[in-house]
Amino acid sequence: MIDKSTIDRVMETAQSQIVDVVSEFVNLKRRGVNYIGLCPFHNEKTPSFIVSPSKGIFKCFGCGKGGNAVNFLMEHEQISFVESIKILGKKFHIPVEDKVLTPEEVAHQTERESMLIVTGFAAKYFEERLHHSDEGKSVGIGYLRERGFRDDIIQKFGLGYSPESKDAFTREALRKGFKLEFLEKTGLTIVRDDYKADRFRGRVIFPIHSLAGKVIGFGGRVLRTDAKTAKYLNSPESEIYHKSRILYGMYQARQEIARQDRCILVEGYTDVLSFHQAGIHNVVASSGTALTPDQIRLIARFTKNLTIIYDGDAAGIKASLRGIDLVLEEGLNVKVVLLPDGEDPDSYSKKLGGDPLIAYIKEHETDFIRFKTSLLMGETQDDPVGRARLIQDIVRSISVIPDSITRTEYVKECSNLMEVKEQVLFSEIGKLRRRKREKESQRGRHYGHAQEGESFSSPRVEKVAATSSNPFETEEREVLRFLLKYGDVDLGELETEEEIRQLTVGEYIIAELRQDELESVNPLYNQIMKLYEENFKNQDFKASHFFVSHADSRISGLATDLIAKEYSLSRIHNRGGKVEKESDRLDELVPKVVTELKWRKVKVLLDEKRKQLKAAEERGDKTGFMDLLKEINGLQQAFIYISKVLGERTVV
Ligand code: CTP
Ligand code: MN
Repeated sequence: MIDKSTIDRVMETAQSQIVDVVSEFVNLKRRGVNYIGLCPFHNEKTPSFIVSPSKGIFKCFGCGKGGNAVNFLMEHEQISFVESIKILGKKFHIPVEDKVLTPEEVAHQTERESMLIVTGFAAKYFEERLHHSDEGKSVGIGYLRERGFRDDIIQKFGLGYSPESKDAFTREALRKGFKLEFLEKTGLTIVRDDYKADRFRGRVIFPIHSLAGKVIGFGGRVLRTDAKTAKYLNSPESEIYHKSRILYGMYQARQEIARQDRCILVEGYTDVLSFHQAGIHNVVASSGTALTPDQIRLIARFTKNLTIIYDGDAAGIKASLRGIDLVLEEGLNVKVVLLPDGEDPDSYSKKLGGDPLIAYIKEHETDFIRFKTSLLMGETQDDPVGRARLIQDIVRSISVIPDSITRTEYVKECSNLMEVKEQVLFSEIGKLRRRKREKESQRGRHYGHAQEGESFSSPRVEKVAATSSNPFETEEREVLRFLLKYGDVDLGELETEEEIRQLTVGEYIIAELRQDELESVNPLYNQIMKLYEENFKNQDFKASHFFVSHADSRISGLATDLIAKEYSLSRIHNRGGKVEKESDRLDELVPKVVTELKWRKVKVLLDEKRKQLKAAEERGDKTGFMDLLKEINGLQQAFIYISKVLGERTVV
């Protein structure tokens, strides 16, 4: 357990630095008082993801996810609250004391967390073996030295060594109390009926990190050259490790990718290491397979500019060309660099060294479309059928590029290269794009887009509210929204029935609702009201901050949703042509939303009673009928009164 004051300190810091926290995972651009970027939680091409530094929250209007900095990490890394606090503590240099877990706490850990703890332990173990065991030093370090890797690079990537022994690691892990179940689930131990063995025995270990720096898997390289086993072994797919969603080196590269606004893609582990060693830090590896859509989106979150480096002798270049359309479709600008025959990024960077390598890349970088065209042109010299197919192929690639200006430029260029009229290319592209649009509209995948500045109004939230089974959902949410957002604001002097009082928005709402015993059917809403009542008298209580940073994610989540939402401006009228903010008119709006809630409650109750009245009449239940009639009379008077108040307040 971490003590409460540490948690508060971390949460407060993280909240005030939310842009900094989120920037590690999303490329954010300033937009008025907020920041905007591509949402990491769903697939989108137009940014709907907003971070508000003043409110300390993020919110996506495409998928609806929102929350504070801690929620962001929890959601993004799929980790617990405690884990997020630890990561943030480390980031902000706040010592988070991690006391030993009680068995109860251990039992509460999710499977994912247990697996992450095991992989974390394994990474430390392998690293320790590499640097401090005789075998590791002679065999492991010996190998890495021979390949020319410097110590700082070995450290930076946390390389390790798994001893040449059937189960040295597994025994050590079990001795330390790790459960076999999680050793097996993470693939570190291979378990057969009566047999346990280390998957990576006798290999140099390349740990694979999540974006937040947690070790989620491993690659292990054999040292022997007799090549009876695969050169590399990788962790199997598991709940924490999805090969198609990660890129090797992204954790170490992400900030540099954003800074340089370019990502370099290579093939393997050692390519990444060698580039770093040569001083090129914006590099990731696809680990020998074609890029997946998830990996492309991962890159797109940090930059739109991708440079792919191909081995000079890579027979797979042509096969991978088709896959690149996916990259173009995500709106990335793709460049390609071909290395000289027989070289791969690892060997060539070691041969050239840093600056000449950068120069080589600059000089040989070719636009992908041009690269593809020239490559395929060579093969279709005097072959009209082949040429027609080539044109189709190129046209398809160009047609998926989202930006029309870029498309136009490519059309011009390809028209020259292939000696085809621009008009022909344009009309082919037009056809393909129309077809694609039709398909998409059938699938109906459309997300709302974020707007600029402070306006947070979200049609989606509205819909969610309306379809709930709580008949007062809309009104209750509105009251809560004012409570959380403006609770501490002075409402000015307010005339109640008995007195004239100075009230804050929160005090007013609490008093009004308590007076009429207006409880919600939604327990979460009641809990928030209760928390408010219990805490608002505290010296440093600030409603928005208190709820947005609440440890219960249902509360902080709801608070985020509510606070992020702005009263749609059209409902606030326009005084003398000047659009006013709702915060300027709280004296009017707060009583109004409370009264609207009451009005709605009375109305629903009236309808209910009228139904009962009819039923009583049909039953011939005279006393019941008379009682109900009296009740209805009372309610009707209240209803008329409230309607009048509302009417007076809403001469819009
Ligand atoms: N790879 C793999 N399994 C294999 C072979 C390759 O997972 N059996 C992945 C690794 O991520 C590897 C990448 O594909 O880094 C590229 O393969 P290759 O070029 O063969 O490896 P290198 O990175 O060049 O490794 P080395 O330089 O150590 O030979
Ligand atoms: Mn290689």
